[in-house]
Amino acid sequence: MMLIFSLLALVTAVKASAPFRNVAGYWYEQIEHNGISPTISNGANWTVFRNVKDYGAKGDGTTDDTAAIQQAINIGDSTGTRDSGRFGSTGQPAVVYFPQGTYLVKSTIRSAIGTVIAGDPTKLPTIKAAPTFTGAYLLYGHDQRYPGLIGFFQGVKNLILDSTSVPSTKAISLLEWSVSQNNLLSNVDFKMPLGASAHTGVLTQGMCSALIMNDLRFHGGGIGVQLTATQYHLKSLHFKDVKTGIRIVSLLQATAQGLTFDGCSVGIDASTGSSGMLNLIDSTATNTSVLVATAASLNNVSGSVVLENVNVDDSVSTTIKIGTTITLTGSVQPGYAWIRGNTYPSGARNTTTPVYSTGRLIPVTRPATLINATTKAYFTLPPPTYETFAISQVVNVKSVPSYPVHGDGVHDDTASLQSILNSAAETGKLVFFPHGIYLLSDTLVIPPNSRLVGEAWTQLSATGAKFADANKPRPMLQIGTREQEGTARVVQMSDFIFTVAEVLPGAVLMEVNLRGANPGDVGFWNCHFRVGGARGSTVRGERCARPEGCKAARLSLHLREESGSYWENVWSWTADHDLDGAEGNVYPGVAAGFLIEAKGGTWMLGMGVEHNVLYQVGIHQAENVFIGLQQGESAYWQGKGNTVLAPAPWTESLRESDPDFNWCADDEVEQCRMGLYQRISHSKNLNIYSSGFWNFVAGPERTMCTNDCQDNAALYESNEKMYVYGLTTINNKNLLLERGGSEGKEISVVATRVDNAGAAMDGFKTGTVAGYFRQS
Ligand SMILES: *[C@@H]1O[C@H](CO)[C@@H](O)[C@H](O)[C@H]1NC(C)=O
Ligand SMILES: *[C@@H]1O[C@H](CO)[C@@H](O)[C@H](O)[C@H]1NC(C)=O
Ligand SMILES: *[C@@H]1O[C@H](CO)[C@@H](O)[C@H](O)[C@H]1NC(C)=O
Ligand SMILES: *[C@@H]1O[C@H](CO)[C@@H](O)[C@H](O)[C@H]1NC(C)=O
Ligand SMILES: *[C@@H]1O[C@H](CO)[C@@H](O)[C@H](O)[C@H]1NC(C)=O
Repeated sequence: MMLIFSLLALVTAVKASAPFRNVAGYWYEQIEHNGISPTISNGANWTVFRNVKDYGAKGDGTTDDTAAIQQAINIGDSTGTRDSGRFGSTGQPAVVYFPQGTYLVKSTIRSAIGTVIAGDPTKLPTIKAAPTFTGAYLLYGHDQRYPGLIGFFQGVKNLILDSTSVPSTKAISLLEWSVSQNNLLSNVDFKMPLGASAHTGVLTQGMCSALIMNDLRFHGGGIGVQLTATQYHLKSLHFKDVKTGIRIVSLLQATAQGLTFDGCSVGIDASTGSSGMLNLIDSTATNTSVLVATAASLNNVSGSVVLENVNVDDSVSTTIKIGTTITLTGSVQPGYAWIRGNTYPSGARNTTTPVYSTGRLIPVTRPATLINATTKAYFTLPPPTYETFAISQVVNVKSVPSYPVHGDGVHDDTASLQSILNSAAETGKLVFFPHGIYLLSDTLVIPPNSRLVGEAWTQLSATGAKFADANKPRPMLQIGTREQEGTARVVQMSDFIFTVAEVLPGAVLMEVNLRGANPGDVGFWNCHFRVGGARGSTVRGERCARPEGCKAARLSLHLREESGSYWENVWSWTADHDLDGAEGNVYPGVAAGFLIEAKGGTWMLGMGVEHNVLYQVGIHQAENVFIGLQQGESAYWQGKGNTVLAPAPWTESLRESDPDFNWCADDEVEQCRMGLYQRISHSKNLNIYSSGFWNFVAGPERTMCTNDCQDNAALYESNEKMYVYGLTTINNKNLLLERGGSEGKEISVVATRVDNAGAAMDGFKTGTVAGYFRQS
């Protein structure tokens, strides 16, 4: 319950600091809606913002609003409806907006790709199922034309979904959510009848590779969230009087952070499903019979569990039950982790055999920079809605007459945007970027005291010669200048995609120099990086048929030494296929994903980084880093049969923080010279939860993998105070390489898949290490 109170305190604090309370409604509802869809024909006439009341919805709680809401979602343009196939998956951005009110519906509402279903955050509107509701879902949040694994660009936020009028015995899920990355599910209440076993809040089905769901509240019903997915970060979910808070059908790697359970029979139930590795941290349970139930494991490493800073009161009889055995009662206090699974303990050991822990407390630490001193919980923040801003305090970048901005993917918007941002920072205005593609031919500096908001993923896209030199990397966006590095100021961004319009070997999509006076002052929510594979960029088709001819960007994100920043829901995707149809597979050779050198406090929640040449995430000479979840996938063209062996095609322009792959023996190059998912070197004060590193297909022929198609997943070199909780791999021969504390020691294998074998998943080979403390 403490977590709920701290959230309320925060909201109140923000409100108090806003000088003008806006009585006329949420700024986003009132602002000029001039977003466009630049990549389709006649896209200037595309309707991005759709207020359901403009389509006939009443929101009075009694009128049937089903057809009106569906119409607001479906409407295309004069060339046809949205399901015509004409618009691709990136050409049909839409925000279907609900003003305050209660919207009665009698059958399933179906969302479409590119769509954010959003309510007024100042008073959450309700979508309420009528007593006569027909259908198995209230809101089908994912576009059924796109299977879960390519279900991107969907959102649901600031709403109440309500089934309290539907008979308890009728099977209904309030939200079908079988999606993958670049999605958004946040700030939603799920209201179900008390004791209604047949009602479920969120349901995911089939193959899904999502990153995070956050800041959700569940009341009543049988199941809060039912999960089938490869990985998830579940942040700030609150369950009150729900029979089963979370039911895991299949989940390989997950972090549950900041959860509260009150009045549940079971908090998290994996007893009839398959759970690879679960981290439960900073959570509380009251009046709940069993907090976590898992199956008696098939082997040592399925059903791996870590609990850290988990508080239960006397009413909770069982903290963990494995099969029928009560394995843990009581709380796990800050300063300890309770671990079940394979561990690599601290202390000098000359063996690399894992130690299997059947459930044991080990002492651990968290860096003071990353936590709340009172609760010892890692700092978290809900996504900002800026609901206290009046319309007069918001500037729409496309509505400033003196500085014309186009956002059309054709004109260069750099100079005008820089002027608008500089002036907004001086006056403290919120800056709104209507949907579009804003071309940047040079670095855009986001000055201190900036708050930027996009719309259904507004794109900022690099173009031109300034980003073309592989040996002179240049940032497209700079969060504060290098002269300002380490100064404590505010910069926040939400709802953007950062990308390139063409092949740009010198492009670094973002560089962060500032840190916050308070955690989250420098923060990014629902901001994603994408290189190629979509309309609006020439990083597609024949142009990018070979990686060495398509060095499309250098790095997506660089967190510089003195910076500190909070990230929540961030996917960095170097394209492996084309999102908009006919142009088939693409093979861009982007050097690397995220380079974290920051010492000022870094929080990464719900992060995915995929398909880069050298590494997905590199943490180098950094301090004070929290990772809640890192999902990673290899560059699919690397592996058996590939001749562009890492570090190629970047051999001539490596930087000091890049791996050289010199540990690869001459006779095993193809599967060794592949991008690492995670490399951590010369760093300290690191708390890393839930690494999920997947290799599904490999080699130029993109052969489906059913074996160890990559040699090495992660490399840890000479770190201190590093705690790693949960690393699961698919089709990797070795989970971990290490170089010990003493410099010069050869890089060697420490954790093999064979020693840490997990349950097979869909025929793939998995491995799990529950805890690694050899560099703690
Ligand atoms: C830390 O947590 C306490 C208790 O929830 C809260 O009152 C306080 O505001 C938090 N501190 C910060 C800096 O968020
Ligand atoms: C723009 O869209 C509206 C509504 O869909 C339509 O009536 C109008 O003809 C369109 N204009 C153009 C130039 O296509
Ligand atoms: C405990 O939870 C049950 C089930 O939701 C509820 O009926 C009961 O009133 C709760 N008891 C307390 C003391 O809150
Ligand atoms: C777990 O691993 C240990 C050591 O390898 C082995 O002795 C034990 O039988 C295993 N337990 C299960 C349930 O597989
Ligand atoms: C490894 O450790 C064991 C037990 O501490 C010791 O007997 C053995 O000599 C060590 N081996 C090496 C190669 O250091």
